[in-house]
Amino acid sequence: MQLAAAELTGSRQILPGQWLQSYHAPALAAAARAGQFVHVRAGDWSGLVLRRPFSVNTADEASGVITIHFRVIGRGTDWFTRLRPGDTIDMLGPLGRPFEVDPRSRHLLLVAGGLGMAGVRMLADEAIRDGRAVTMLFGAASARDVYPSTLLPDEVEYVVATDDGSLGRRGFVTELIPEYEAWADQAFACGPRPMLEALARLAAGRRERLGVASLGRKRGGGKTPASGSAAARRKAFLQVSMEQNMGCAVGACLGCVVMGSGGQPQRVCREGPVFASDEIAWESGW
Ligand SMILES: Cc1cc2nc3c(=O)[nH]c(=O)nc-3n(C[C@H](O)[C@H](O)[C@H](O)COP(=O)(O)OP(=O)(O)OC[C@H]3O[C@@H](n4cnc5c(N)ncnc54)[C@H](O)[C@@H]3O)c2cc1C
Ligand code: FES
Repeated sequence: MQLAAAELTGSRQILPGQWLQSYHAPALAAAARAGQFVHVRAGDWSGLVLRRPFSVNTADEASGVITIHFRVIGRGTDWFTRLRPGDTIDMLGPLGRPFEVDPRSRHLLLVAGGLGMAGVRMLADEAIRDGRAVTMLFGAASARDVYPSTLLPDEVEYVVATDDGSLGRRGFVTELIPEYEAWADQAFACGPRPMLEALARLAAGRRERLGVASLGRKRGGGKTPASGSAAARRKAFLQVSMEQNMGCAVGACLGCVVMGSGGQPQRVCREGPVFASDEIAWESGW
């Protein structure tokens, strides 16, 4: 974890109320992995005390640039849109646990709901770099909220569902899963909680539906990795990136807990934000 003075190099509105910003922060860009986040402080004069967490949307070690993609929903995010190239902000990161891809997985299914795109976007880059095939299922309310395909690597198969049918398939993105689950070796998701919960239910029933849910004879064999470990996530079919309101983002305030399936509260900032889907007690309604 490092504290960087990140210099804004680019800022543009890519969708109504949604911004993509690039920052020069070489140490962060070199260290960040898909699924991690940065905690960003607005300038002193803004009167904003708490930092704001944002997923690392992309990180390019060669140029030292990381990007964040955010929706303006309050004072902090509004303040960030007023920054101009050359301005610097104080960025802490990379924080949290990243996605873990099983080295044997060749086909990755990424599922994003709305702003959840920012949570899985970097995994597409990492997977393509490592020679994997990636299908991205994206869900939005309507065409005006659909993430531009030009912001994804060409190699990604991009499939869109909109609630009102104005672009792509009509319905929820989760309804596309049956067409892709047999193809996928692993799935990774970020989005609204009901979407993640629906995906977790589908993942739990996958073995019965498909008959084959293991990749190679070793998966599921040998020692069961400790819950919460990187090995447990690597072995899971579905990993989810969770969002909770955060205070400290370093594990001290307990402001971000969700209930784990073992009955232990899990801090999204430390034990997450990425979890194996069966590590979360979805029914607990924390
Ligand atoms: C690990 C993590 C990664 C995140 N990544 C992204 C990202 O990539 N892009 C993005 O747009 N947002 C992301 N968020 C949410 C983002 O941090 C909040 O939208 C932001 O802090 C709001 O700041 P604000 O000052 O504009 O709003 P505030 O004035 O602080 O809040 C405005 C309203 O939004 C609600 N709110 C604030 N934070 C959250 C939250 N985390 N979940 C639900 N409601 C919230 C508040 O309760 C309030 O009603 C992430 C959150 C977490 C925990
Ligand atoms: S935000 Fe403080 S413990 Fe997670």
